[in-house]
Amino acid sequence: MRLLATTNGGLESVASAELAELVGADPERHHRGVVAFEGSRDDVYDLHVRSRTCHRLLEVLVEGRVEELEDVYRLTRRVDLAAQLPDAPFGVVGTRHGSHEFTSMDVAERVGQAVIDGYREATGRRLPVDLDDPTVRLEAYCYDDRFTLAVDLTGDSLHRRPYRECEHDAPLRATLAYSLLWLADYGPDDRLVDPMAGSATVPIEAALAATDRPPRPDLEPALAALPRYDAARFRRRRAAFEPRSPSLDVEARERRAKWLRCARSNVAAAGLEDAVDVVEADAREATLVADRVVTNLPFGVRTDEDLRELYGAFADRVRDGSVGRLVALTTRPDLLPLAVEKRHDVPYGRLDVSVVVAEP
Ligand SMILES: C[S@@+](CC[C@H](N)C(=O)[O-])C[C@H]1O[C@@H](n2cnc3c(N)ncnc32)[C@H](O)[C@@H]1O
Repeated sequence: MRLLATTNGGLESVASAELAELVGADPERHHRGVVAFEGSRDDVYDLHVRSRTCHRLLEVLVEGRVEELEDVYRLTRRVDLAAQLPDAPFGVVGTRHGSHEFTSMDVAERVGQAVIDGYREATGRRLPVDLDDPTVRLEAYCYDDRFTLAVDLTGDSLHRRPYRECEHDAPLRATLAYSLLWLADYGPDDRLVDPMAGSATVPIEAALAATDRPPRPDLEPALAALPRYDAARFRRRRAAFEPRSPSLDVEARERRAKWLRCARSNVAAAGLEDAVDVVEADAREATLVADRVVTNLPFGVRTDEDLRELYGAFADRVRDGSVGRLVALTTRPDLLPLAVEKRHDVPYGRLDVSVVVAEP
């Protein structure tokens, strides 16, 4: 079966490496933020339990070349809709990239019409449309001359972690936090410090991964509504995963009392009080001794000068201390006076953000 996984744009290589490790997949980049791979239904169940980089998993229903809008209708009609879809409200999201004489709305509308026509022809029933809260969500991608129609297997995006009771003003997406840890090659034996931890997303993701706990234990995936999937089997496989309990050395440092409280509340919500220490410390002054330092640097203090001073003092602490590898997310890599080994550019909302990797 051909599957898609959505992830953070710019970090498709990290999601691909995780998919290879978890289910032996060999993904390729489909387009920005989406990778494609071959996998089984059991892989789908297991990825919904264990993936920490993916946002959603989708099964490809049809792929083909499009020259005009009617090709979208024709390709969708090739799908065995009665076998793939339940008699339940559906919605289509259209995404288009390239130069076409039609819009993404047109794509969604033609796919929707083909689904209604094909399902009615096969079953005699008309599928209801619900664009706001559909039971079945179809993604129709038109990228240049390539059309891909896929059904969403996940529903609520996996990046929404349930421990996130306290939200930071500048929160880091949990899948991105985990991707930083992946780039740092963090493992359970490493001492990890996030010197500017905010609500502790990076330390919590590290401890969840090191103890092999599912990031979304609460998830009721959308695949439960689809005829070819077995939600009971998914739940059995989830229940069979055994968390580990190595002793960890993970520290969340933060300067402001408000975020220290926030970090403690999220660490408690994740059940990680024994694994993550939340410590009041100023990153400009505190000594850094760690195998891995992974952090989301503040993007914008009031002026460039404030950032320059903070980044400069932090880099001094990195150099004076003992740090195996540093991975930092920042909008201003130019202000971080450290030799950068590798850099990944990641569009983040409307910001251009970089992930820098340094081995001081
Ligand atoms: C971008 S936020 C981190 C957000 C965090 N990754 C999360 O998901 O909640 C940066 C944090 O660094 C903290 N910070 C700024 N200057 C600091 C310093 N000198 N020492 C320690 N923390 C600092 C800020 O208070 C803020 O909480």
